[in-house]
Formats: sequence, C-alpha cells, structure tokens
Amino acid sequence: MSSVESTGSSGSAGAIFFLVSMVVIVAKIGIFYCVCRKRICQSVSPEPQFMTLTMDKFLTDMEREKPIRFSDQQLRIATGNYSNLLGSGGFGAVYKGIFSNGTIVAVKVLYGSSDKRIEDQFKAEVSTIGRTRHFNLVRLYGFCFERNMRALVYEYMVNGSLDRYLFHQNNTLGFEKLHEIAVGTARGISYLHEECQQRIIHYDIKPGNILLDKNFNPKVADFGLAKLCNRENTHITMTGGRGTPGYAAPELWMPFPITHKCDVYSFGILLFEIIGRRKNVDVSLPESQEWFPILVWKRFDTGQLEELTIACGIEEKDKEIAERMVKVALTCVQYRPESRPMMSVVVKMLEGSLEIPDPLNPFQHLMDGIFAAHPVPTSQSYTNTSISSGSCVMATDSSAVCTTPITRRYEIELDSSNG
Ligand SMILES: Nc1ncnc2c1ncn2[C@@H]1O[C@H](COP(=O)(O)OP(=O)(O)O)[C@@H](O)[C@H]1O
Ligand SMILES: [Mg+2]
Repeated sequence: MSSVESTGSSGSAGAIFFLVSMVVIVAKIGIFYCVCRKRICQSVSPEPQFMTLTMDKFLTDMEREKPIRFSDQQLRIATGNYSNLLGSGGFGAVYKGIFSNGTIVAVKVLYGSSDKRIEDQFKAEVSTIGRTRHFNLVRLYGFCFERNMRALVYEYMVNGSLDRYLFHQNNTLGFEKLHEIAVGTARGISYLHEECQQRIIHYDIKPGNILLDKNFNPKVADFGLAKLCNRENTHITMTGGRGTPGYAAPELWMPFPITHKCDVYSFGILLFEIIGRRKNVDVSLPESQEWFPILVWKRFDTGQLEELTIACGIEEKDKEIAERMVKVALTCVQYRPESRPMMSVVVKMLEGSLEIPDPLNPFQHLMDGIFAAHPVPTSQSYTNTSISSGSCVMATDSSAVCTTPITRRYEIELDSSNG
C-alpha cells in the first residue's frame, strides 16, 4: 500500500515538473518570437519620423502627379464665387483662384451650346494635357465634373497670354525675349508631336493660347480642340473646319487628310505676329500691308528684309535673329503639309543650330488664284475664336464681318475674338 502511495506521489511530482518545463519552454519560444519579430519589423519599416520626411513626401508627390478631382463647392470657395475673371475664349471663362494651402490657380469653367460640345472639350483637355509634363506646357492640376459644373484647374500664369504683349503692350518685351518665347513654344509643340507616347495635335496654336509665367517662359495652353492620335496613323480625316480663322492651316478647311503639320502652319502664322508685333490682318493699314505674311514674303523675295525689320522696329543687334525667324515662318506656312518641317527641326532652325534653306513662295496658290473656290466662306465670321469639327460648325455674327479686297483676294478669315 505504501509503495503504491509512494509511486502515486512521485508520479504527480513528475507531472508538475513536466508542466513547469513546458510553460518555461513556451515562454522562451514566445520571447524569442517577439524579439525576432521586432528585429524583422525594424529592418523593413522605418521609424515614424523617417516615414514622414521622405516616404510621406514621395507618396504625396506621386498622388499630385494625377489630376485631382475637385467639387463645385471647393472651386466656388477658391475663386471667391468666380469674382476674378482672367480671360475668356470660345469655350469658357477663366477665373483666378487660391486654395487654402496657398496654391494659386486658374479655373476654366466650360460653357457651350450643347452638352456634347462641353464633354468633348472636357475630355480633350483632361486626356491630353492631363497626362503630359513639359516645361513649355501649362500644367493641369485637376478638374471638376458635376451635374452643373465642368471646370478645369490649371497652374496660374501670372503674365497672362502672349496676345497681350504682341497687340496691346507691344513694347514691354524685347525682341530677344520674344525670340526665346518662340523657341520655348516650338519646344512645347515638338514635345506634343514627337515625344509623347501618343502624338497630340493641338489644332489651335495662336497667341491667346500661349501663356507666360513670372519669367515670361511660354507655356502652350488650351487643349480644348486637341486630339490624341497614334503615330502609325499618320492622317486623320475630319469633316468640318478646326482651329481659328487666320491661324488654321488650309487643309483644315478642305476635305483633305489632316496631320500634325497643321500645328506647324499655325506656329508659322504665330511667328509672323511675333516678328511684326501686330495682328497678321490689319484692315486699318494700306492694302499692301493689310496681310502681313504676304508682305513678308514680298520683302524676302525681293531682298528687302532689312527694310522690313526696320519698319517693325527691330534693332540692328536683333537683325540676324529676326531674319532667321522670317525664314522659319515662311517655311512653316508652306501650302503642302509635307513641305513643312517637323517641330524639332523648327526648334533647331530658330536656335540657329541648323541651316535654313531658302523657302519657296508659300502663297503661290493664292497668287495664282488656284483655290478661289475652296470651301472657306468668305462672307462669314465667327462668334467665337475656335471652330471644331463635327457638331459645332461656324456660327455667324454679322457684326464681325469685315472683308476687304486683300482679305477677299487671299481668302483670309479674321479672328474676331481673343481666346
Ligand atoms: N493658367 C492660366 N493662367 C492665367 N491666365 C489664363 C490661364 N488659362 C487661361 N488664361 C486666360 O484665359 C484666356 C482663355 O483661356 P483658354 O484656355 O484659351 O480658354 P478658351 O478655350 O476659352 O479659349 C487666355 O487667353 C488667358 O488670358
Ligand atoms: Mg483659347
């Protein structure tokens, strides 16, 4: 009996020892696991402080890369209920705004006669400028898409658009600066045509769509008519006209295939306006000077460029750059799209790193009257700056009609507004 009792007490002592040993082992494993876990965690996740300074900033920057979606109310507050109008064009009114973090913006509120038109314009801007980054393109911060409000939010350009300096305050910018603006603009367009994953054709290059930052660096803006196209599909077929009268390439007014070379033409027309610091069409001048591009061609053709540059108020020191700009402009506005250079070549020609062959007469077809019957309506002008294809075609506004012998002869359409 006692031997049975002693066997029972030693068995329970063994059980207790086993239990204690197990607890100790489990506790050690637990501690070991915690230590290891802490070390592993330390090796992959940074201190909270480190996270704030670098990763956090990186993530915020990355988020900022995408256009942000704003609410109607946010924009209303930022713009002080749309109280500061910066400008307006064919498709919208642009207001100055400031967000609570101090960022100053320009808010373009889209308006138009049809929802389809606003939607096309909205999609054109967001899908093109919303996905590009270049020093010479205006930056789209975001957009608002609500039932009664379609708006686009851009970085604010303190010096407004180039037309102001060419046609209104035409002595503020020196000729050298104007040349820099021309080169920067050409770089922006060259990026759109040649460097984006999908080629972007702007369709509405003109002084009102070139914005200037605080240092007068140019930024191409207003992508309301822009189109993305595959580089392989070199031609786009369009039904109506596109662009702005006076700046649009001839093929845009005819049932001909369209390429990115229509932007090269409009850039050439813009260059003439930079050289002359005047609108290309000025009906207040004697007939021989009414349409500046033809006057430039005649001076170039007869070796009288110096007289022209003097008449334009260009100083002797800028004469060489001005003559280069004249040749580039005449090359860009060649009648046949394939005779116009690529924009990257235009950049090099303007910079002086590429020789410019003497251009042929770009206006021969007009002088010969070959296209007297082409489908541009000569007795028409337009209520707004830009005319897009398809649904929205050429609105008339008889008050703006202004044709003269020279504009009729060369079938020049006047741009009646400022956008
Ligand atoms: N980001 C901006 N900063 C400052 N002014 C601007 C800005 N965007 C547009 N504007 C002004 O508003 C005008 C019209 O803008 P734009 O984008 O060309 O619109 P629209 O499609 O109506 O022509 C410009 O010519 C310019 O004067
Ligand atoms: Mg515009």
